[in-house]
Amino acid sequence: MMKVAVYPGSFDPVTNGHLDIITRGAKTFDKLIVGVLVNVDKNNGLFDIDERVELIKKVTKNLPNVEVVGFNGLLIDFMREQKSHIILKGLRAFSDFEYEFQMALMNKELDPEIETLFMMTSAQYSYISSSSVKQVAKFGGNIQGLVPELVIDDILKKFKSKV
Ligand code: PNS
Repeated sequence: MMKVAVYPGSFDPVTNGHLDIITRGAKTFDKLIVGVLVNVDKNNGLFDIDERVELIKKVTKNLPNVEVVGFNGLLIDFMREQKSHIILKGLRAFSDFEYEFQMALMNKELDPEIETLFMMTSAQYSYISSSSVKQVAKFGGNIQGLVPELVIDDILKKFKSKV
């Protein structure tokens, strides 16, 4: 049976930490679907959902078993739509645990067939988050090494268009 996993997130924007999990997830499962979803706790996004999808598609072109899909709704509904019951999440630090644990239990409550699996982020990316990347870029700092090279210009352009 094909093992299909979904790696959900808000990815605003995709970082090297995300790409690390995507690359390793693609090696672990037969197919990995990157689900770009809305996190209601994070408003005022930099990129809209379609733009985030395009950025991730651009940096995963070399990964044939990775698909990128945007979705506006509950993760468990997306899981059903994609016919997958495995949620893959990255864990950076102990501080991520409580939030992720809560989401995993909520999703399990909503759909008992769902399993959430955690993959530890590689140490060199453990301090990177989309929010910190946005802060650095907004104030003119260097985001090289934090996000894939291919999306640096898109991020800088987006900030320029917002001023
Ligand atoms: O990258 P993030 O922001 O930590 O990802 C969180 C995300 C988007 C996966 C989460 O907010 C989510 O699943 N949103 C969809 C709505 C949903 O299903 N919420 C209930 C889960 S508690």
